[in-house]
Amino acid sequence: MNFELSEEHLAVRDAARDFAQNVAKPGVIERDNAQTFPAEQIKQLGELGFMGMMVDPKYGGGGMDTLSYVIAMEEISKVDASISVCMSVNNSLVCWGLETFGTEEQKQKYLVPLAKGEKIGAFCLSEPEAGSDATSQRTTAKDMGDYYLLNGTKNWITNGSSASTYIVIAQTDPEKGHKGINAFIVERGMEGFIVGAKEDKMGIRGSDTHTLLFNDVKVPKENRIGEDGFGFKFAMKTLSGGRIGIAAQALGIASGALDLAVAYSKERKAFGKEIYKHQAIAFKIADMATAVETARLLVHKSAWLKDNGKNYDQASAMAKLYASTVAMEQTVEAVQIHGGYGFVKEYHVERLMRDAKITQIYEGTSEVQKIVISRNVLSE
Ligand code: CAA
Repeated sequence: MNFELSEEHLAVRDAARDFAQNVAKPGVIERDNAQTFPAEQIKQLGELGFMGMMVDPKYGGGGMDTLSYVIAMEEISKVDASISVCMSVNNSLVCWGLETFGTEEQKQKYLVPLAKGEKIGAFCLSEPEAGSDATSQRTTAKDMGDYYLLNGTKNWITNGSSASTYIVIAQTDPEKGHKGINAFIVERGMEGFIVGAKEDKMGIRGSDTHTLLFNDVKVPKENRIGEDGFGFKFAMKTLSGGRIGIAAQALGIASGALDLAVAYSKERKAFGKEIYKHQAIAFKIADMATAVETARLLVHKSAWLKDNGKNYDQASAMAKLYASTVAMEQTVEAVQIHGGYGFVKEYHVERLMRDAKITQIYEGTSEVQKIVISRNVLSE
């Protein structure tokens, strides 16, 4: 086993780190306060080739592997998880799904601009009454011959108002249950497609999370992804890879909190010495570093499995479950190490703590990850 990163992976890490420190960090507190979408930063991320990192260069992508992607996700999430969630949804849920299951026409028309970072994508599965229970889709797509008539509401959609291309999961034949679900490519501007209210969130406040409404939207038949009835499996397969990206995001939030806690503990003095010289703080740092490193191993392993064509459903669920728990627990510890300073925005750790919570919720709650893991373990 080789745990050393290659020259190429180190170069990706350095480029992502440079972006995070010099482009993402300036204004991150202000964007969080005002809930400002990081449009300029996402544009620059696209120019760096990070919005379609894993897409084949013939479709405008970076042609990189999943390990490069998680390395970049970690670096950017250390600084701004609102930027990295946009990057993750575009890469994992939209570009990967289109490249893997789309037709050549769909790839040319939709994937190329998404992979080049010229457009942003969104993945629309969640509904007011279909979160964890994703088979209970109420959004319908009625087959009208050469088009589908789409009706329904989607909730908590990341990139809701900044996207141009939306993958929408809908029920075409309720009698068939999950086998009657399809995935469609819906364009911003299609008649009857309305971007609804923006959520006022606890964390990742720079990302734009919206309700979307579809009122008799005519979706051309050629915009269906895969065979009739493939939509639920499409969503599950796509989310399985998506969870690697969110696990990397959680890892980045936790390792960002660790970096800040280490730096602060060397600056701050109490009882006559720097606080890291007190064992109470040194032991906290030891626990944080161990948890972050363990999370990193799981994240890199799931990326490796994907890159090597092996099944990664269980590994990605484990990585997401563990890394998101680490993010939540260790950001709380980072705030504690900072004391009163940790409670104010200027020191960044309170934002990381708020951002950590969503990693235990989106792309499947921790409980959903346990369903996936236990089913895999018990079927072995
Ligand atoms: N690959 C291929 N097929 C899969 C699969 C996978 N990884 N997982 C399930 N399936 C298939 C099953 O084989 C089954 O097919 P058959 O009937 O042909 O055998 C079918 O899908 C139904 O599977 P289950 O019986 O396991 O379905 P379930 O109803 O018990 O649900 C679940 C399982 C894991 C809880 C699933 O519903 C789930 O993942 N829920 C969470 C959804 C989610 O992650 N939502 C996030 C929204 S997107 C988001 O957050 C993006 C963002 O904005 C950041």
